[in-house]
Amino acid sequence: MSKQLLTAYELVGGYGKIDILHGVSLSVGVGEIVSVIGPNGAGKSTAFKTIVGFLRPRSGRVVFNGEEITGIRPDVVIQRGLAYVPQGRPVFPQMTVLENLEMGAYTVGEPARVAKALERAYELFPILFERRRQKAGTMSGGEQQMLAIGRALMTAPRLILLDEPSLGLAPKFVTLIFDKLMEMKRAGYTLMLVEQNAARALAIADRAYALELGRNRFEGPGTALLADPEVKRLYLGG
Ligand SMILES: Nc1ncnc2c1ncn2[C@@H]1O[C@H](COP(=O)(O)OP(=O)(O)OP(=O)(O)O)[C@@H](O)[C@H]1O
Ligand SMILES: [Mg+2]
Repeated sequence: MSKQLLTAYELVGGYGKIDILHGVSLSVGVGEIVSVIGPNGAGKSTAFKTIVGFLRPRSGRVVFNGEEITGIRPDVVIQRGLAYVPQGRPVFPQMTVLENLEMGAYTVGEPARVAKALERAYELFPILFERRRQKAGTMSGGEQQMLAIGRALMTAPRLILLDEPSLGLAPKFVTLIFDKLMEMKRAGYTLMLVEQNAARALAIADRAYALELGRNRFEGPGTALLADPEVKRLYLGG
């Protein structure tokens, strides 16, 4: 088994006094794609927000790259190499593609490292180079998602968490985004994603988890979950 890069142990927590997570555990090894599936409201986004530090867990621990990051502020967590692309592909619509990418590197500072990161983002997403002077808000949903991912790459992260990267995209962009995730894996990135497109998310996953009502329900290799009759019935529409 590969070295664990992220381990979230038994996370309990949610919003204010209301617990949404009742003991969620997730782990990601170096070089893996890990997919998290589950019905609406299962706590998938809440789990990611808790890992990244937007929410403080009531109990449980998060260890990233050998260090405990439980309860640490998101900006500090990002500086340690954990990038996060929230649900809804947020970009700054009035800013150009290039400005959006540069915003992603505001913690980096050193111009040579920013230039290198920009080069890597453009290599993975040539469309962002072509559109670098265009206002982000005028691009299609799929292009905005690529920009949101490209921006996350600007810190040269060890691990990228992606919440619903294909949500609401036209079919050709859904295919493109999943192809890009595979390409990122081949380029050496480590990814954990939440996806409502469960079949595709399982197909590209080295390992996967299904969450339900704030708890782990299934876990295993992506292909094993894809073939599991119970998983099929519950999450893959029969
Ligand atoms: N900011 C918030 N304040 C209070 N409750 C919230 C907040 N965000 C989410 N919730 C609640 O937490 C529960 C889990 O939401 P979460 O967004 O984690 O689910 P999810 O698995 O990501 O679902 P989806 O597939 O719809 O994105 C839901 O019942 C939701 O209403
Ligand atoms: Mg969600």
